[in-house]
Amino acid sequence: MKKDFLSILDLSQDEALELLDIAVKFKKGKISSKPLEGKVIALIFEKPSLRTRVTFEKAIYDLGGHPVYLAPGDIKLGVRESVKDVARNLERWVDGIVARVFAHSTLLEMAENVKIPVINALSDIEHPCQTLADYMVILEKSGKTKVNLAFIGDGNNVANSLMLMTALLGGKFTIACPEGYEPDKNLMAKARELASKSRGDIVVVRDPVDAVKDADFIYTDVWTSMGQEVEAEKRRKIFSQYQVNRELLSKAPEHALVMHCLPAHRGEEITDDVLDGHRSIVLDEAENRLHTEKALLWLIYRQFS
Ligand code: CP
Ligand code: NVA
Repeated sequence: MKKDFLSILDLSQDEALELLDIAVKFKKGKISSKPLEGKVIALIFEKPSLRTRVTFEKAIYDLGGHPVYLAPGDIKLGVRESVKDVARNLERWVDGIVARVFAHSTLLEMAENVKIPVINALSDIEHPCQTLADYMVILEKSGKTKVNLAFIGDGNNVANSLMLMTALLGGKFTIACPEGYEPDKNLMAKARELASKSRGDIVVVRDPVDAVKDADFIYTDVWTSMGQEVEAEKRRKIFSQYQVNRELLSKAPEHALVMHCLPAHRGEEITDDVLDGHRSIVLDEAENRLHTEKALLWLIYRQFS
């Protein structure tokens, strides 16, 4: 494993599969070693969080370590003090940094300036920890990691990481999105490169029905991500045909299950009946955040302890 986990691109296919395997072992209570014994991890959050904060805090406790949560107003990253200075101070006291940031470049700058591990807890480009949990659920529900994943909506951070993981593991990632809201261009090129080796596929379509018709899993995320609130009205119009609802589900294979990273904007990207319905596995995704983050920390700190 690399020191840092900033992107799905930091994992090889073998590492991704090993991580999922370890997460399953954690969930079954089969691992009791505590590689974070005596270690302190700083959790820097520039944006709000429920799942990421709680699961990282619990994962760190369960592995024997101690989390220090730094809220958006606490350190005023890049305002009160430069990113580089914050990171280099932290390095003198703590053993790792988990950071949720606006700009992905903030994570890169931290990682370049310290020897302790830096983990991406969401940036404008990727949400790789979410993807790990999502793929653990996909494995649990389907028994495989090579699946057809249809993403409906905004090609943002969550979609980017899912696209990369699907390509890494040899599945088919189809995104239905409005023009101009495709996944990141560079990451799409990287995903296509990975897919050419793993026999996966990356497809962009405009009509959500085209995306779901052969889907094993149907994924959506909010139309307006954190930090984009001024665009909310415009986005509601642009994405209005990209709602995951009963009608769209009726066009998908019967076995297709519905995924969402949460928080959901109910009535926008997804309807209540679908989010709360029997094909929704969103709470399993949330639960698995804990197990996959334990696996991630375990793998990183096994070599750094
Ligand atoms: N899915 C997710 O990352 O949730 P939070 O924003 O609550 O951490
Ligand atoms: N795309 C969303 C994901 C939240 C977990 C956001 O960035 O706000």
